[in-house]
Amino acid sequence: MFLEVKDLNTFYGASHVLQGISLNLEKGEIVSLLGRNGMGKSTTLKSVMGLVRPRSGQVVFNGNDITGFPSYKVAKAGIGYVPEERRIFPNLTVLDNLMMGVKGGVVDAGKQGGWTIDRIYQHFPSLKERATNKGSHLSGGEQQMLAIGRSLMGNPDLLLVDEPTEGLAPIMVQEVRDVIAEINKVGVSILLVEHNLKVAMYLSHRVYLMGKAHIGFSGTVAELDNNPAAREKYLEV
Ligand SMILES: Nc1ncnc2c1ncn2[C@@H]1O[C@H](COP(=O)(O)OP(=O)(O)OP(=O)(O)O)[C@@H](O)[C@H]1O
Ligand SMILES: [Mg+2]
Repeated sequence: MFLEVKDLNTFYGASHVLQGISLNLEKGEIVSLLGRNGMGKSTTLKSVMGLVRPRSGQVVFNGNDITGFPSYKVAKAGIGYVPEERRIFPNLTVLDNLMMGVKGGVVDAGKQGGWTIDRIYQHFPSLKERATNKGSHLSGGEQQMLAIGRSLMGNPDLLLVDEPTEGLAPIMVQEVRDVIAEINKVGVSILLVEHNLKVAMYLSHRVYLMGKAHIGFSGTVAELDNNPAAREKYLEV
């Protein structure tokens, strides 16, 4: 197993927001984590990424126990993160924003499948057109592309992507969806949190549905498709 999350328990103060979360992902997969607001999807990603520290449980990535690692070490181990808020630097150009994603200040194109600015521009032509524009001048969809592109510059083997299509116009939803499919095809495994069920079903190999603080369903997309009761219980339908 490429990523194995075992029985995670995470608290914010006294509130127990992850109560025994277990999930896994095989190399090459897109796995989605779905559920209504406030169930703990983002906290699950943050617990994997080392942005919040789980009180118990284990995160094993590529055979290494990374539980409780600070986020820069998780990144070094090969996990990238695209947060819900995107966190584009508004006063930096698109190119400079991309360079901010480079780990240790070195473009590691020597790594097999390593990402370079040129390669990012091939996958994201709209970023190339806007290379010298400031982050603040981009549309929501372009900012999302930039956030994904920037995380790729760190050469992740696994990307955690939180709500990439949130608030985007339908045409941009499709573009973001397609770029996620594309980067998965070139070898990046993806753990996706998504509100748009269509997008998640289109992209995913497997899905997990979260109820409050726990996983309520796991299965293939076909299994979810054949389970209206699970969709009704855990998703807005
Ligand atoms: N920094 C924080 N401090 C305290 N409570 C928090 C914090 N972040 C999230 N929570 C609470 O933890 C629970 C899980 O939040 P989380 O953001 O993981 O949910 P989510 O499934 O990602 O929701 P959404 O779909 O709205 O993004 C919620 O009840 C939320 O209010
Ligand atoms: Mg969230």
